[in-house]
Amino acid sequence: MKVIIPVAGQGTRMLPLTKSLPKEMLPLYNKPIIQHIIFECVMAGFKEIILVSSPDKLSIESFFNDAHPTHQRINTKSEMGLACDIDALDYQISVVYQTEPLGLGHAILCAEPLVGQNDFAVVLPDVVLTRDHPSYQTTALKQMRQSFVLTKQSQIMIHEVDPKEVINYGIVGLDGQSTSEIGQLIEKPSIDEAPSNLAVLGRYILGREIWHHLRQTDPDCRGEIQLTTALMQLLQHEPMSAFLTEDKVFDCGQMAGYAAAFIQFTLQSRGQRDNTAKVTMPKINAMN
Ligand code: G1P
Repeated sequence: MKVIIPVAGQGTRMLPLTKSLPKEMLPLYNKPIIQHIIFECVMAGFKEIILVSSPDKLSIESFFNDAHPTHQRINTKSEMGLACDIDALDYQISVVYQTEPLGLGHAILCAEPLVGQNDFAVVLPDVVLTRDHPSYQTTALKQMRQSFVLTKQSQIMIHEVDPKEVINYGIVGLDGQSTSEIGQLIEKPSIDEAPSNLAVLGRYILGREIWHHLRQTDPDCRGEIQLTTALMQLLQHEPMSAFLTEDKVFDCGQMAGYAAAFIQFTLQSRGQRDNTAKVTMPKINAMN
């Protein structure tokens, strides 16, 4: 199954930092966010990766280009493990461009010719997941993929957010208390409208029927085609599951979440190398 990673967004919530630097290239400790994201995808078994990028963001492609001079120098020095742990893995990246900012649904449609009428996953690079003691054998995305294979139902990863944060995310309402079946899906509801505080965090595994609904979706008032609108349509025709993760979730699309993620990954990386690391985590956590 292929995974689509939309990276064309302009990072307006992080200006001026992202004026010429793609937000996906910002570091989490010593690796850019996109490297953590690709690692997550490959660990979950997604080896065919499609980046939906913008011609303005060539540094992302350049980072993964084997012909890049730095890459060759690293190779010769046999420092690959330290510099780029994903290079030892088996995966393939294709790039398509979204040349106009017409929304997440439109970005996914840009990848349709490469995916064909098949099931696929979507991973949004703004959101980074981790655990205090990560085990790459059992990541949340890998478990969600297994649920899709088992149930054949589209899966949307969710987590609990502070009730006042619901206005920033897609929010799901579950059918009953102890089920994972989605009853409602609302994009960025007001606090009063929100059916719960369970937020869509940007990990989806979607059955092929979504293509039809994406193509039928009209642009919203801002001229953007929303994935959530197409998912609401799909929900009228087939059941969909919510996959609740208890991972730490960082919204790196805005400064507070990014700063918290940087500290978390720094602590994790230093902890792995040096158990005596004495950095403490300040109380900033934008999405939890
Ligand atoms: C998108 C989705 C939203 C989801 C969010 C996660 O919104 O439309 O449902 O909760 O990603 O980050 P965006 O952040 O692109 O506005």
